[in-house]
Amino acid sequence: MKVILFGATGMVGQGVLRECLIDPGIESVLSVGRSPTGQQHAKLREIVHGDFTNFGTIESELSGYDACFFCLGVSSVGMDAERYRHLTYDITMAAATTLVKLNPGMVFTYVTGRGTDSTGQGSRMWARVKGKTENDLLKLPFKAAYMFRPAGIQPLHGVRSKTGWVNAIYVVAAPLLSYLARTSPKFMTTSEKLGRAMVKVARDGFAKPILESEDINAV
Ligand SMILES: NC(=O)c1ccc[n+]([C@@H]2O[C@H](COP(=O)([O-])OP(=O)(O)OC[C@H]3O[C@@H](n4cnc5c(N)ncnc54)[C@H](OP(=O)(O)O)[C@@H]3O)[C@@H](O)[C@H]2O)c1
Repeated sequence: MKVILFGATGMVGQGVLRECLIDPGIESVLSVGRSPTGQQHAKLREIVHGDFTNFGTIESELSGYDACFFCLGVSSVGMDAERYRHLTYDITMAAATTLVKLNPGMVFTYVTGRGTDSTGQGSRMWARVKGKTENDLLKLPFKAAYMFRPAGIQPLHGVRSKTGWVNAIYVVAAPLLSYLARTSPKFMTTSEKLGRAMVKVARDGFAKPILESEDINAV
């Protein structure tokens, strides 16, 4: 597979990038980010792009791909609803509508989170925005689209969150997270399991379009 990765510098994206680079079934990885990953690998090519609501200037570089791993995303903590909606819905849909036009045979995988609200009626703003994003991605004419809803993610292999307070929690709670990752698949996965699951589902498909934490751990 030839794949495109968004959010490769983040906690989820670092894990997905690692699995892509070591998987012999992945021929090449194109990272599209606002900052470089700092990694060098024969399979990895990077585009540093400024405006994530408009991919017109790099469209010529975005065709010929089999899968997209969309790991770009932000926490809603301390963010007003309009800004969160812009960073979550507008950016994701701008990328997805560009990619589906250029790669109709593509499998699109998107990372949301446990508790995402598909109904649009719930009380939590972040969950409604993520749910609306999932719903609209699933309407696009990709070959297939899969929504990954991890709960907690134990970072492995040097993976770190870009969000300082998230990183601090994961460092302080490392022993507990490690225990939960082994015993509570509904509430915890690892960056390695999530990355591997996204690669496997993009390659082989899955029985349903939305994968909760326990599905991610079972893939
Ligand atoms: N970490 C968890 O425990 C966890 C659990 C469940 C779900 N999730 C979900 O997984 C997704 C990714 O989370 P994460 O933990 O990987 O986040 P993270 O470590 O904070 O990384 C965020 C990524 O998104 C990019 N990004 C953020 N704002 C951007 C913008 N305006 N334009 C372009 N790129 C932007 C960042 O790029 P820069 O490097 O340039 O900043 C980085 O690559 C989120 O949707 C999150 O809700 C995470």
